[in-house]
Amino acid sequence: MSDTYSNNMPRNEAEAQRLDEQFELTTQNIGYLIHPAIRATLPPTARIADIATGTGVFLQQVAASYPDATLHGSDISTALFPPAASLLPNMQLSRLDVLEPVPESLVGTYDLVHVRLIVAGLLPSSWSSVVQNLSRLLKPGGAMQWEECNFGSAYHMRGGETSTTSAARQLGKIFRDGIGSQLQHGWDALEQNMVSAGLVNVGHDYVSSDRIPETRKAVTRNGMTALVAFARKRSGMSSEEVNAVEEQAYKDIESGCYIRYDTHVFWGFKPEDSQSKI
Ligand SMILES: C[S@@+](CC[C@H](N)C(=O)[O-])C[C@H]1O[C@@H](n2cnc3c(N)ncnc32)[C@H](O)[C@@H]1O
Repeated sequence: MSDTYSNNMPRNEAEAQRLDEQFELTTQNIGYLIHPAIRATLPPTARIADIATGTGVFLQQVAASYPDATLHGSDISTALFPPAASLLPNMQLSRLDVLEPVPESLVGTYDLVHVRLIVAGLLPSSWSSVVQNLSRLLKPGGAMQWEECNFGSAYHMRGGETSTTSAARQLGKIFRDGIGSQLQHGWDALEQNMVSAGLVNVGHDYVSSDRIPETRKAVTRNGMTALVAFARKRSGMSSEEVNAVEEQAYKDIESGCYIRYDTHVFWGFKPEDSQSKI
């Protein structure tokens, strides 16, 4: 098992909270949890898989509208999972590495396979085979929905005439220099990869991270937490140096500096007449 993600990002309680807030803000900016074209086909008793589930936040939110669904979350690491006893009775979490073939027992069993934000865990060369692998989980007529943010092209903007930006931009540059090229490529071929995996009615929607301007500051503060965590892990700067830039970066945000990037949603359907066990 090669866990690329753990080289880049921490897995601890603070990160779990950051991911949950990021999920909420991203969903607000997208404007839906499940694309309307998929919702129209999803039965109330749907079997739904959330891959690279992190804290399981997607399934917890889906449960509110689909109380009779079967909800299976999986991730290469169980470190961010909530305690099993706290999960809803119709929700289970387990370990699954998308780079390994999916278990034969799960092939052709899901109405919806969902993925959000696995980009920091995959190299650009892996995406095509991962999409192929995950699409095997779908029932005929089942849907795949996948969201990725273009963090490799995230930039800190000057919001006010006199806003300061240099510390925020310094941390952004450390991140882009570190994994920018990994983050920019791979997800951008999802549409083509879904078509190659045999999915039909493939679609692509995208919004800005600040489509809802009221979320801008929270998105920027949330992103800053990730940039600081990355700098601590990967920049080679001392802890004191990172602390000093971090303090100034939050002042930049207070002065009106904000982050902007694009968020993409991709979806596709397994043909009704396909063999479920391709
Ligand atoms: C940024 S988090 C996103 C979590 C969740 N989807 C969300 O939107 O909050 C990325 C997740 O991908 C998982 N991941 C990374 N590489 C993976 C792999 N090869 N197989 C399965 N999960 C992986 C990480 O462990 C982490 O939980």
